[in-house]
Amino acid sequence: MTDAKKEHSHSKKEIDTVSGVETTGHEWDGLKELNNPAPRWWLWVFYISIIWSVWYWVVYPAWPTFSGATKGAYGWTQYKKLAAEQQEIKDRQKAYLDKFEKASFDQILQDKQLYAFAVAGGSAFFKDNCATCHGTGGMGGKGFPNLNDDDWLWGGDIGTIYQTIRYGVRSKHEDTRVSQMPAFGVEKLLEKEEIEKVVDYVLSLSDPQSAAGKDLSEGQEIFELNCASCHGEDAKGSREVGAPNLTDSIWLYGGDRETVFKTVFYARSGVMPSWVGRLDDNTIRELAVYVHELGGGETGKVASTVTAPDEATESVPEESVTAPEEQENGQDEAMPDEEAPENTPAPVQEDDSNPVKPMITLPNESEETGQEDGHDGE
Ligand code: HEC
Ligand code: HEC
Repeated sequence: MTDAKKEHSHSKKEIDTVSGVETTGHEWDGLKELNNPAPRWWLWVFYISIIWSVWYWVVYPAWPTFSGATKGAYGWTQYKKLAAEQQEIKDRQKAYLDKFEKASFDQILQDKQLYAFAVAGGSAFFKDNCATCHGTGGMGGKGFPNLNDDDWLWGGDIGTIYQTIRYGVRSKHEDTRVSQMPAFGVEKLLEKEEIEKVVDYVLSLSDPQSAAGKDLSEGQEIFELNCASCHGEDAKGSREVGAPNLTDSIWLYGGDRETVFKTVFYARSGVMPSWVGRLDDNTIRELAVYVHELGGGETGKVASTVTAPDEATESVPEESVTAPEEQENGQDEAMPDEEAPENTPAPVQEDDSNPVKPMITLPNESEETGQEDGHDGE
């Protein structure tokens, strides 16, 4: 701004002819600045904001420092806020949890509120712990049973489910559910042609069309001699040994010819980890209620008889959990059995380490799980 202009702006106030508003006297190429001060209310908001921000700096953590941030006058942190909120939730849950802890499964099934509490909790725990294998809604996948249907390997009443979750299937817990379908091909228990025949027979049970024009009598005989002991004369399965129903078109590993052949040739041995020691008993009970509901609520002996052993005495075995699909890759490698601790079932990854003889081990008899050296069966 030139001195001349400055002088001019101080000397007289000019009124803009168009708007009738006083100008500041500033002018750029013929455009003049009007003198419109900010409204008073706006100014007040502005000043209050400044005061509020100074107050905020003092009271809350605000300014970054080398070691973190200023602490604020009252030591407020988001962690404390979170902890307080979680405590509130816990307190609210505790009222139910105390009741839940004391209630038998029978009582839980009767009590609408407790039941809803258990299903809600179980559903959340399921997503965290089980969905990786069983799918978010428990719908399962290849090698991992669908928990939504009424088809159960080991049983769908709540007490049985509780036990399955607690101790697992072929897990490393000593009370695990154990059974072992022999690898009929690898162990040379059946010739390839015999396996073809029994597979034809098995497929025909779910899909009679598949056997059109085939003579099934030999396959049936092979089945009765080799398979019926576990899968039943009627092939409807046995929950004693977790042998699936082979007549219902529900397949754990797949129902196409090639897959069923592989199942009989190599066997499968899915592993369900044990959860006792990793999850507390209330959580396992909530999960049992939830899974029971998923399955449509099968009734039967309810586990009021099952009392949880003292948590502290339980050992928590580390388990390497391998998805059954991966089993098919390692069939040619012999497995050094020394790695397997005593009294545990054969490692599932290696099909050819299965003992030659059919080995059925029911819970509580797992001491008998003898092992033979792995050998290359092909
Ligand atoms: C690492 C994979 C894996 C995880 C994780 C897992 N499961 Fe399983 N689960 C399996 C397999 C495999 C089987 C089938 C075992 C067999 O062949 O008998 C199974 C079987 C079951 C069964 C028995 C089903 C029947 O038909 O009798 C129940 C119940 C079950 N799981 C519940 C759970 C719950 C609840 C959790 C979470 C706490 C869970 N599972 C976590 C792999 C898993
Ligand atoms: C010692 C008991 C036992 C014997 C004997 C046995 N199985 Fe199994 N079978 C099982 C078990 C347990 C499973 C499922 C669990 C696993 O291995 O993961 C199974 C699974 C199967 C499956 C898979 C079903 C599916 O849903 O995918 C087929 C097919 C099958 N067996 C056929 C046979 C045939 C055929 C024979 C006779 C040649 C036979 N089994 C003998 C215990 C047995």
